[in-house]
Amino acid sequence: MHFKALIASGGRGTRLRPITHTQNKHLIPIANKPILHYAIEAAVSAGIKEIGIVTNAESDEVPKAIGDGSRWGVKITYIPQDAPSGLAHVVKISEAFIGKDNFIFYLGDNMVVGGVRKYLDEFERSGASCFLTLAKVKDPERFGVPEIRNGMIVGVEEKPKKPKSSFAVAGIYIYDHHIFEAVNKIKPSARGELEISDAHQFLIDHGFKVGFSEITGWWKDTGKPLDLLEANRLILENIDPNIEENVDVDEHSDVAGRVVLQKGCRIVNSKVRGPAIIGEGAVVENSYVGPFTSIGAGTTVVNSEVEYSIVLKGCKILDAGMRIEGSLLGNDVEIVRADGKPRVQRFMIGDQSRVEVS
Ligand code: G1P
Repeated sequence: MHFKALIASGGRGTRLRPITHTQNKHLIPIANKPILHYAIEAAVSAGIKEIGIVTNAESDEVPKAIGDGSRWGVKITYIPQDAPSGLAHVVKISEAFIGKDNFIFYLGDNMVVGGVRKYLDEFERSGASCFLTLAKVKDPERFGVPEIRNGMIVGVEEKPKKPKSSFAVAGIYIYDHHIFEAVNKIKPSARGELEISDAHQFLIDHGFKVGFSEITGWWKDTGKPLDLLEANRLILENIDPNIEENVDVDEHSDVAGRVVLQKGCRIVNSKVRGPAIIGEGAVVENSYVGPFTSIGAGTTVVNSEVEYSIVLKGCKILDAGMRIEGSLLGNDVEIVRADGKPRVQRFMIGDQSRVEVS
């Protein structure tokens, strides 16, 4: 069967400020690769050739960063969305791109291990018009939540106060063209958006078959900073160790475990304990980089210790004192020692940043 893919990359990313003040959340790197690449690669490895990406109309950041798809051997079409009017609205404005084809709708900030081909196959076998992927979570009230009776989904509620199951509807949905009837009929919710859960409820209420499958590997919605660190950990756990060209590790350094050293990076008198990735041209000197850490391109770490963290491009961590742990540093951030007496901590930090000191 022929499938297209529709990927959502809009939204404001308010829960990921301050990083998202200057960067679309879908372009934040996990293991030094933009989150959106994982969604595109999931579609590509499922054999899909035509991908539509819905973007914020006022910004060309995503098209500029992603391109026309030729690097993955696929065709990418961009569909601008004028305002963040909800996920069902994302589907609604994509009707001309999808036509009568079946398609997978993938929220660009979701990450899943193991690909999506098996869900496309299950959708085909099920004869359903709509197929939802479900994941067991501790906090279903943050998500769309299904009610399941006798192995059937009988209802879906968006962010319910009293969830009717412990499943989240993950942001990976498969549809035939009947979804357009739903997204064209439903009305905006209390927060003024066309909710994807309401479209699913519409299909259930109108007698369409809604199938589902539980995601048994891991799945993450990277909506909050801690989710990003967790996704980074999970991706690094499965990364293939690799040393790219022009990497320099001196004889006083010790690199162990699953580690990727990207082009031209230098490790001097330091310990790197994988799983970790050190970006292109980065320098790690007299330092320790511990498990589950991504160091971005051109970042310098000197006389410092970093663990379980994401550090983006062009940062300087120099004589940081205490070990940096569970942290997310944006692009070009500097953490340096304050000189002189008395000993002080000095901050120059943008809006909505968060610093924990001890
Ligand atoms: C959206 C959907 C929700 C779904 C979630 C999955 O929520 O509205 O039904 O469970 O994605 O990531 P949002 O992340 O926009 O709050």
